[in-house]
Amino acid sequence: MPTVFIKTYGCQMNERDSEAVAAQLVAKGYSLVKSEHVADIVLLNTCSVRDNAEQTALGKMSAMIGLGRKDRPDQIFGFLGCMAQSRGQELIDRLPDVDLVVGTQKFHRVADYLDDLLEGRRKKIVDTDAESGSESTIREHLVSGGSQPSVTAFVSIMQGCNQYCTFCIVPYTRGEERSRPIPEIVSECQQMVSRGVKEITLLGQIVTSYGKREIAKHEGKTAFVQLIEAVHDIDGLERIRFTSPHPKGYGDDLVEAYVRLPKLASHAHLPVQSGSDRVLKLMHRGYDRQRFLEIVQKLRLARSNIGITSDIIVGFPGETEEDFNQTLSLCREVEFDNAFLFKYSPRRDTPAASMPGQLPESLIEERHARLLELVNEIGARKYDAFIGKQARILVEGPSKKNSARVMGRTTCNKIVLFEGSERHKGQVMDVSITRVGSFTLYGDPAIVNL
Ligand code: SAH
Ligand code: F3S
Repeated sequence: MPTVFIKTYGCQMNERDSEAVAAQLVAKGYSLVKSEHVADIVLLNTCSVRDNAEQTALGKMSAMIGLGRKDRPDQIFGFLGCMAQSRGQELIDRLPDVDLVVGTQKFHRVADYLDDLLEGRRKKIVDTDAESGSESTIREHLVSGGSQPSVTAFVSIMQGCNQYCTFCIVPYTRGEERSRPIPEIVSECQQMVSRGVKEITLLGQIVTSYGKREIAKHEGKTAFVQLIEAVHDIDGLERIRFTSPHPKGYGDDLVEAYVRLPKLASHAHLPVQSGSDRVLKLMHRGYDRQRFLEIVQKLRLARSNIGITSDIIVGFPGETEEDFNQTLSLCREVEFDNAFLFKYSPRRDTPAASMPGQLPESLIEERHARLLELVNEIGARKYDAFIGKQARILVEGPSKKNSARVMGRTTCNKIVLFEGSERHKGQVMDVSITRVGSFTLYGDPAIVNL
């Protein structure tokens, strides 16, 4: 049977989509390989959020075609996901050796399309159509081959986003919000837990809007909180995480869930994007600085150890020095444990791309560097505070960089490395934090919990 190499760019949703495609292909007898050089089929699952993510995937594809076509004229090349959705046929016009372009609502068709291409029934396939019910098609998981099952799993709960932030391409690449029913999600989670999974991350582009149209509020609780409660009831599950939420979705019912539900990890990723009310309004974010600060305060009251992380865009059109200073001051005020900084990148079809006051690259670079310095300084202080303390971690497995170490996470989502072994995998254990690296804690389990 043919061999497949899948490379994924972008967010955790993309990772999950690739996993589901891989699992479907494995079920049909295809085998997965780790390099494009030995693959009959090469698929790039793409990201469109910023221009450089698109350019990287385009560059990778043309380099692979340049190398591969010479030695293996039958090799099949495909683009999947967000860039496939937004560019469609244009990708084949630009790179005529590409055989397959599959958008974000058609991942479940990839295996059939590959059969068609391999058996010569069709020469080129482009499918970027919408499909009703596609939110329920990301459900297959790869069963890990080793003796030990995976400790963490990602479960897709919804697709799309209706927020239409003016800078963001996601509503165009992922479509309208569509949510899976609670029982369907719970049953997938149960299956994962029965395979040994201890931590589940619920995934969607705007998870706090989960089920808004499909599921009525119940006793003042949004559909999202109802879902968390249902997943929380699964025996054997240790931790629940979710990504990505939207700050406006942190109503009192969700804040209160942190008080009531111990399996809910003490972490909130709150993408603030800017500290300036003027910019937040232009971005169409749906909250202002004061409301954002109020949410942070309420969450810290609900869980004193909560880790708060964020996404921030630098250089949104028209951002003045004063606006940027507001972002700096917000970071000082909140003290994020970490924040991902993005240089504004104009995206096709988005309102911000044609707003006046597009800033020069050099100014964006300069602000980015200033903000990065601040975020790193605050982050380092937060991480330093762990030295000498004990942290409870869920061990996920060997560290990717150093196989003598194992990696776990605290409930507040900090990575902890220590010298352990395979037998620690899946365990919840206390480690003493001895030193810190860049956004990493180093621990010593010797003292406790051998
Ligand atoms: N809720 C979504 C957000 C997608 S994009 C999710 O995580 O799936 C992730 C982050 O990329 C956003 O929070 C934003 O900070 C950044 N981003 C989105 N569009 C951008 C653009 N046009 N330029 C720069 N950064 C952008
Ligand atoms: Fe994008 Fe805003 Fe939705 S950042 S994914 S449009 S919440």
